[in-house]
Amino acid sequence: MHFRILPEMASTFAEEHDPLFWYITAVTVIMTIVIFVGVAGFALKYRRRHPAERPALIHGSMKLEIFWSAVPLFVFLSMFAWGAKVYFDYFTVDPNAIDIYVVAKQWMWKIQYPEGQAEINELHVPVGRPVRLTMASEDVIHSFYVPAFRVKRDVVPGHYNTMSFTPTKKGRYHLFCAEYCGTQHSGMIGWVTVMEPAEYENWLQGGGGMGSMSSQGEKMFQQLGCSTCHLMDEQGRCPILRNVYGNAVRLDDGRTVIADESYLRESILNPNAKIVDGFRRDVMPTFEGQVSEESLMQLIAYIKSLSKKPTGTIGAGQTGRVVGQGRFGDRGTPGNANAGTTGTGSVGSTPVTERGSAQK
Ligand code: CUA
Repeated sequence: MHFRILPEMASTFAEEHDPLFWYITAVTVIMTIVIFVGVAGFALKYRRRHPAERPALIHGSMKLEIFWSAVPLFVFLSMFAWGAKVYFDYFTVDPNAIDIYVVAKQWMWKIQYPEGQAEINELHVPVGRPVRLTMASEDVIHSFYVPAFRVKRDVVPGHYNTMSFTPTKKGRYHLFCAEYCGTQHSGMIGWVTVMEPAEYENWLQGGGGMGSMSSQGEKMFQQLGCSTCHLMDEQGRCPILRNVYGNAVRLDDGRTVIADESYLRESILNPNAKIVDGFRRDVMPTFEGQVSEESLMQLIAYIKSLSKKPTGTIGAGQTGRVVGQGRFGDRGTPGNANAGTTGTGSVGSTPVTERGSAQK
């Protein structure tokens, strides 16, 4: 493999990021040269030539002071302005982005697709389409890092972080954990496969013996008894969940919040944290410790599917294109879906194959 300073560029964000990186590098290199050559040059030019020499008295130069204050100010502010633009672009999510769910744990990446596929240490995405990852951690802080896309985001327990990117080139790219998370941190690696959209659609058709995430979420919604209080069409003891996702919710303390993934997650684990206006506290029990992060994501996918507003998710709200049992990914090894279940023992946790193990 030939030498390169930066990894391959494979996302729209990489194309935006690299010019800024080179600009900052160039400015710092040029500034360093100017300062060091200046120091050396003046030290030589104004050196003491004989022991009795006294330098001429200087009272300063306003012009010079303004020049060397204003010029660097504008140069450094240009980094700020450019950097701010890139930063906002990084955190602006395309509303049509494909949703994919990531759960990190010591020491693997578990990926779930709304259509029902699940894999470990492998992420499949189509080329040219914005992708949004919703990421949770089961234990400690990890960090999802794809150098070829120039994206990295911490994955923090107790909270969702999201990250988005648009791949621009077909291929296989490294995925790393970029936050020291224990003994096997260095082995917490995997691959991102960027495919042609048609190829990707084909790949999606092929898996998910468990049904789509929202249908698995719906099953859990029944099993956990949520459906006895959250009725579908009439007011029960708890709010109707139809059209909640993505909309504003009025709370009993007068605040209004947007019902996003983090709000739904909090409401499941800590129902008293935010009470919807007109409802009572302590009606809903906590589900902390009863639902795994993956199951939570399925429940949320189900609640999202109840929202009329298109959430931009491929297949959200559909009850899955389920073909057979256990063909995961492009290798097509039928019947291995049951190899190596995650064994979290939680309601509705998805069996995932061990393909793409960390040793690769
Ligand atoms: Cu996970 Cu380092």
